[in-house]
Amino acid sequence: MGTVLRGGTVVGGGEYRADVRIDGPAIAAIGQGIAQSGDRIIEVDGCYLLPGGIDPHTHFDLDIGTTVTADDFASGTKAALAGGTTTIIDFATQAKGGTLQAALSAWQAKAAAKCFTDYGFHMAITDFNDRIACEMGELVAQGVTSFKLYMAYKHNLQVDDSVIFRTLRHSHGIGALIGFHCENGDVIDTLVQEAIKAGQTSPRYHALTRPAAAEAEAIHRVISLAEMAGAPLYIVHLSCAGAVDAVLAAKARGVRVYAETCPQYLLLDDACYEAAGFEAAKYVMSPPLRTKPDQEALWNSLRTGLLDTVATDHCSFNFHGQKELGQHDFSKIPNGGPGVEHRLALLYTYGVLPGRITLQQLVDYTATNAAKLFGLFPRKGIIAPGSDADIVVWNPKHSATILAASQTQRVDYTPYEGWHQQGQAEYVFLRGCLAAQSGKPCGEPRGEYLRRNPFPDRRENDG
Ligand code: URP
Ligand code: ZN
Repeated sequence: MGTVLRGGTVVGGGEYRADVRIDGPAIAAIGQGIAQSGDRIIEVDGCYLLPGGIDPHTHFDLDIGTTVTADDFASGTKAALAGGTTTIIDFATQAKGGTLQAALSAWQAKAAAKCFTDYGFHMAITDFNDRIACEMGELVAQGVTSFKLYMAYKHNLQVDDSVIFRTLRHSHGIGALIGFHCENGDVIDTLVQEAIKAGQTSPRYHALTRPAAAEAEAIHRVISLAEMAGAPLYIVHLSCAGAVDAVLAAKARGVRVYAETCPQYLLLDDACYEAAGFEAAKYVMSPPLRTKPDQEALWNSLRTGLLDTVATDHCSFNFHGQKELGQHDFSKIPNGGPGVEHRLALLYTYGVLPGRITLQQLVDYTATNAAKLFGLFPRKGIIAPGSDADIVVWNPKHSATILAASQTQRVDYTPYEGWHQQGQAEYVFLRGCLAAQSGKPCGEPRGEYLRRNPFPDRRENDG
């Protein structure tokens, strides 16, 4: 017995009216009159059928030394499902002096048997040497085909240009794609120390000590390093116009640079740092929120197809008890914010409905492109026969208000408190099982670990 979603509009490779038949974990057929005897029929007239969302940038159960993120892999992936995301890719992080294998095992243990979505890992490298270079290939063989390097967080996660160049050169040829957090950590460290010394300790100094130019400079630099290394690269969470310009210029000269932004950079701006009292701590994230013209540059780059993905960088800390760790020193405020639950709703409400992006682009940015970049396509990221039946039935008529009190994310605030949401994930299927209904998760933690395919090398891509 299968399930037929009848009367909806499939989005992906165009928009067309068709029924979708699910049989077991996969999509069996798309068309008209495809129901078989005994099938369960779900009427989805007036709804869009979207491929399950893929969020390639989350931080669940992340221990930052002073505290641990509010969401773990159970609550975070439940929230993802509630909002129409069926796959997440989180960041395992090498301990200084530790192996990549040890980090992968540690993150596998955090996620095992807890995930409500399917999941994979990128590997963040903090301590590179020849042995780690060998391990990169071993990880690719285990399905960890993307890595991350931080150009910020001096004395902690930051790596230098030599490491960046060597890892990029090495990635090319082992089927790996390297992602970069681009901010000039040396400049930021100097500005932060100066601010603290001058008694400038409130949350708004987080933004003032991380200027947009520090991001744009790092992006220019890493793109140049990638060109010298002859390697592709992925840039996480673009936030400003200078970053967009750098990516645009690089793409125009043929550099294989892929770029991500996040809803917070599209929808929130630096006025948030003027909030009264300690409230601004809710928006302490890196990069920080930018200006309205920066937002427009990002929307334009989505409209024109310059960017590749919209992820969330979900990294939640409670306002009470966690953000408050930095009450007297902004540099001690845990960096990051929640977002995994509301990505599709925000992009639909504030992107598709006002005509900033098309529905097809919403699908590309929230599912298809991430599947292609991170070795999951065509198993994920598309509604097609043979693909996993990860399907979001999106009801565009539903309207709601985003409230922390009713969210699934296990965190005591949302940056979008009181915002209107148009549309809802009415049904979410994960590999054929109903996993969320009416914006709420249902069922067991069925998430599976995804061994991702290697990133295709230049020869295959140039074909
Ligand atoms: O502020 C953020 N983004 N925190 C999460 C860690 C990172 O930089 O991605
Ligand atoms: Zn992040």
